[in-house]
Order: sequence, then structure tokens, then C-alpha cells
Amino acid sequence: KSEDEIVNITVVLKDGEKVPVKGKIGDNLLYLAHRFQVPMEGACEASLACTTCHVYVKSKHLEKLPEATETEEDLLDMAPFLKQNSRLGCQITLTKDLDGLEVELPKATRNFYVDGHTPKPH
Ligand code: FES
Repeated sequence: KSEDEIVNITVVLKDGEKVPVKGKIGDNLLYLAHRFQVPMEGACEASLACTTCHVYVKSKHLEKLPEATETEEDLLDMAPFLKQNSRLGCQITLTKDLDGLEVELPKATRNFYVDGHTPKPH
């Protein structure tokens, strides 16, 4: 992989720990986080049907992301601890512009989607 394709991300965990994550252009943030053992949830497997992949995007990069689709907005409305800079992690695809991106995991997520499935605590 050429260095040009590398996109450096930092994920801030609930306890404030910062985990550096190295991805490349085109990577999905949710799956990338999982490769680095980051406990970002993804109950619906990135099919835009839950809010468990909820993250806060640091303002510097917020405007570099494509706007949320209506479906993403509707889902976010149901997410606990919603903020101005909330996005769904599985809808973020890495671009070179996002190099240095910092995302923070919310205090808690709620999974209203998968019936009878209790999200794993971590
Ligand atoms: Fe369900 Fe992102 S994993 S919307």
C-alpha cells in the first residue's frame, strides 16, 4: 500500500483513552475500528438500521464528511446522548481529507433494532 493511501484516525474511548487507528482510503470506519479492537458497536452490520455505531466527530473534520442521509439523521434522532457532531460510524468512509480525524465514542448506545438481542456489555 502506498503511503498516500494511509489515513490516520484516533478513536477516543469512553474512558478517554485514545487509540490510534491506521486505515486507508475507502475503509469503512466501523470495520476498521473492529480490526483495531476498538469497541465501536455495529449491531446491524453497517446496514443503516441501528444507532449502536454512534460516534462524535471532532469539529475540524465534520464538514469534510458528506452530509448525513435522511435515514442516518432519523436514526441519530433515536440515539442516546445525541450531539451536534453525532454521526453513525459505519457511514464514514475514509478519504485523504479525513487524515487526522478524531472520533469519540458516546457514553452508551442503545440497540432498539435487533429484537431479543441484548447488546454485549464491554
Ligand atoms: Fe447499524 Fe451503523 S452499525 S447503523
